[in-house]
Amino acid sequence: MGLEGPQGNTLLMTIMKAMRRREFLGLGLGTTGALLLSQCSSGSSQSAAPGSTLAQAQFHTSEDGLLRFDLVAAAQRVKLGNRDANLLTYNGQVPGPRLEAKPGDTVQIRFTNRLSQPTNLHYHGLHIPPTGTGDNVFLEILPGEGHTYEFQIPQNHPAGTFWYHPHYHGLVAEQLFGGLAGLFVVRGELDEMPAIKAAQEAFLVLKDFALDRSGNIPNPGHMAQMTGRIGDLLTANGQFNPSLEIPSGGLLRLRLLNASTSRFFWLSLEEHPFHLIATDGGAIASPIALNDLVLAPGERVEVLVQGNQAPRPYRLLNQPFNPAQGMMGGGMMGGGMMGRGMMGGSPNRGTTETVATLTYNGAIAPLSLPTQLMAVEPLPEPQTTRQFTLNHGMGMVFLINGQAFDHSRIDTQVALNTVEDWEIVNTGTMAHPFHVHTNKFQIISRNGQPAPYAAWKDVVLVSPGETVRIRMPFRDYTGKTVYHCHVLDHEDRGMMGTLDIQPA
Ligand code: C2O
Ligand code: CU
Ligand code: CU
Repeated sequence: MGLEGPQGNTLLMTIMKAMRRREFLGLGLGTTGALLLSQCSSGSSQSAAPGSTLAQAQFHTSEDGLLRFDLVAAAQRVKLGNRDANLLTYNGQVPGPRLEAKPGDTVQIRFTNRLSQPTNLHYHGLHIPPTGTGDNVFLEILPGEGHTYEFQIPQNHPAGTFWYHPHYHGLVAEQLFGGLAGLFVVRGELDEMPAIKAAQEAFLVLKDFALDRSGNIPNPGHMAQMTGRIGDLLTANGQFNPSLEIPSGGLLRLRLLNASTSRFFWLSLEEHPFHLIATDGGAIASPIALNDLVLAPGERVEVLVQGNQAPRPYRLLNQPFNPAQGMMGGGMMGGGMMGRGMMGGSPNRGTTETVATLTYNGAIAPLSLPTQLMAVEPLPEPQTTRQFTLNHGMGMVFLINGQAFDHSRIDTQVALNTVEDWEIVNTGTMAHPFHVHTNKFQIISRNGQPAPYAAWKDVVLVSPGETVRIRMPFRDYTGKTVYHCHVLDHEDRGMMGTLDIQPA
């Protein structure tokens, strides 16, 4: 899809302008030109010339302990970068509005479904009740109908980057791929740390899209639904290659979400290491320097970037990551994120593309990285250990422990106030990011090797042949919830189970 005709010319003009501005001298004109040409011919709409300044979604913050918001899901024609697109939107926006609350706040979301299909909302990563008007993914909200979600964010909820998206089984992949996703940020202790406060904050919602010539989302083929539908248009906050600004000497706090249905991101920023400060469930104990990181669908990270290089543009690159293979012999870092360990070991598909561009603007007295963040509470030894085997069956069905999802069956029953180890075993040929609702967990080991640092997660990438052990406390809430693969085509095709948390 892409840039034939007038749009291709626009791209070339942008490149020429950028070259005239000599922004790319440092990268070498020859290389840049060749890279761009090959991107044109492969039909991608990415451009190495930074586009517009990164847009931030409209956001809505709680006031006096209450976050009240009206949210409408509807199909709408919107701008995706420079393209007209018929997408699925929350309040007419892609990504949806960013919601912000604090621990202890009451959240009241009056939701209306103006889609042509049933839907509902899931609050991914929030520790809130999975039942009633809470994070209830068993609800069916029919077209034209609504539901008021109401819940309280616990007083001791960690600060972090969470998100909301549809969770109506069977249609989740399609509705996310259409554009339905928004950030849900909990502001708390981490945000108050002086070193973090001093950093400039930017949210990056990473998402792939596919559009035909009239701006419609093409129907995914059979194969795409098997491996997971993947679009060739990479966007950050609904933009193509936006620019991110940093002052010389400054710190940029990048808060990344992979809101794609099935696409993995394997990110690196030219000449700037990432200093990891938070994972899915909040802060880690101290920053960890990474040259690159993998974000599986559903995962979030927060990283600090230091503005300590020569003031010219640097590309935030996404290297191809083949989810059918995963990272065989990959590294051993916590979460789905891999450090240097995965370099070289991963089979590639397609080309490296620019997701955003870091540009320098102004200068400030140099800020230093924090040395300490927040302690990650160690978990007690588990009372129970269970195994979950991920594989696919005959046809296009995806299974956990040999079974496809059935909402009326209870697959796993646990007791409130206990701690369990779950061993997730991938005996198939595709990578599966395993996700659990309601409670977060820590990764204990991968293929028997202990996790290098403690971190709270709610998605963990399990590559083919791997066994990952996670430890999870069941706290505060009873009731029925789910766990599933966050490649949402796999989830829609059966790779989900029910979890019943029983009173102690
Ligand atoms: Cu983000 Cu059950 O999912
Ligand atoms: Cu979730
Ligand atoms: Cu999967």
